Amino acid sequence: MRCILVIIFALATWMLVSCRSSQPKPESHPESEVISNDEPIKPIPTKIDLDTRKVALGKMLFNEVKLSRDNTISCASCHDLEAGGVDHRVHSIGIGGAEGGINAPTVFNAALNFR
Ligand code: HEC
Repeated sequence: MRCILVIIFALATWMLVSCRSSQPKPESHPESEVISNDEPIKPIPTKIDLDTRKVALGKMLFNEVKLSRDNTISCASCHDLEAGGVDHRVHSIGIGGAEGGINAPTVFNAALNFR
């Protein structure tokens, strides 16, 4: 009787071990495998290298009214960085008071937008 119990225990142990080893190993998913370069939506970069001279030039141009035909409007007129990057109007107003047919979206993080 004792011998049969030992055999049953040995068989049960063998079955458990063989079952475990035949299970597929969990797949590893390194970031490069999961996120394809073809995806339109990419993770937000954790660090962006900025050239301070380009930033200063961009800031100057963004506020430059000379870029408009009558020297009255800059990017900041419709994309006020102190107001969430928008003008809070239903329709943006262009030169000569011309009203557009759409409101200005925020320009915050616009560089990360995709089309
Ligand atoms: C007269 C108002 C006005 C001025 C001035 C203006 N924008 Fe815009 N901007 C808009 C409107 C309205 C849209 C939306 C256009 C659309 O979706 O067709 C827009 C869209 C944008 C977008 C796209 C944002 C997004 O989420 O898709 C960017 C970026 C942008 N403008 C940057 C600028 C820059 C840079 C300047 C200056 C060179 C500028 N805008 C000047 C009104 C303006």
